Amino acid sequence: MHIQENISLLPYNTFRMDVRARYRAEYSSVDELKGLLRQYADIPRLFVGQGSNLLFTKDFDGIVLHSAMARARAVRETADEVYIEAQSGLVMDSLIEQLCDMNLYGMENLSHIPGEVGAAAVQNVGAYGVEAKDVISEVQALDIATHSLCTLTNADCRFGYRNSIFKNEAANRYVITSVTFRLSKQAVYHLDYGHLRDALTASPAPSDIREAVIRIRQSKLPEVSQTGSAGSFFKNPVVPQEVFDRLRSLYPSIPSYAQADGIKIPAAWLIEQTGCKDLVVGGAGVWQNQPLVIINKGNATPDDVMALAKMIQDRVKERFGIALQKEVIYI
Ligand code: EPU
Repeated sequence: MHIQENISLLPYNTFRMDVRARYRAEYSSVDELKGLLRQYADIPRLFVGQGSNLLFTKDFDGIVLHSAMARARAVRETADEVYIEAQSGLVMDSLIEQLCDMNLYGMENLSHIPGEVGAAAVQNVGAYGVEAKDVISEVQALDIATHSLCTLTNADCRFGYRNSIFKNEAANRYVITSVTFRLSKQAVYHLDYGHLRDALTASPAPSDIREAVIRIRQSKLPEVSQTGSAGSFFKNPVVPQEVFDRLRSLYPSIPSYAQADGIKIPAAWLIEQTGCKDLVVGGAGVWQNQPLVIINKGNATPDDVMALAKMIQDRVKERFGIALQKEVIYI
């Protein structure tokens, strides 16, 4: 166990905000986690993976906790499937690379998404037609009140679009310790999103799909190692059919995706239409290839990022009457 005091969080958030935390600690076992929960019971706690989906808006007067538990193992196997239990601190993309090398299907479309296993379940990360919920069998978590380990089924987690019980009613109840993923030995393809199929030959292996996904992501999204960002800053709005029909009569080229609960409109399109691509506030700007991403151009402060996000929301609201919801969590 390693506890630091008055520590800069700059290396621990992909937006690269230079804020400080009173304490930061890493735990390598569930017993160490329990010890930290006991020791720091009276100050605010924040569990952070790679810090790739949050914006630190100010110094954090509490303890930032990080799981250094990062192993994965096969726990069950059938004729068609393999179940892999991965610990919360394992980097998602390292896991996916290994699974693709093992020729297992299921998570290849999620390649290159920044973040660790625990946070991937909290956020139900998704890309190219697959969401984490599609491959999560169950989640193992520590109940903070009782210090007992429990298992939540996929249904218990109430996954939604970038959402789960861990962001809502159970936000302060559990700490995810590991996630069990269900992978397929047989080819199961999800190639209909965007131009993914066009980038592949017939019967691609998981590693072929992984490579194609990485190429597409690199052409659209900033590399967090080079440009500070937290991926999509806003969610794509889902509007009722009648709202969409009214918008389409005004903007016939508006792109859309039918969902069970309405019509999803790409926020990137709405943002581009309002001319926000060239907006800059201090050190914060908009990524040219994907305006859904706000970037740190160098010395952005949290206030720069929040002011730019508000400007984008205001412009989209004024022009289209749609309130963009943040995907990035403000701390
Ligand atoms: N578009 C524009 N202008 C642009 C870029 C995109 O109008 O400059 C429009 C186009 O109509 C395009 C559409 O937006 O077809 C969709 O763009 P893209 O395929 O890049 O996906 P997205 O809907 O903007 C979502 C996720 C991404 C994920 C991709 C691929 C959300 C909030 N974002 O973006 O996830 O990688 O789909 O599946 O759902 C993230 O969550 O951080 C993230 C990067």
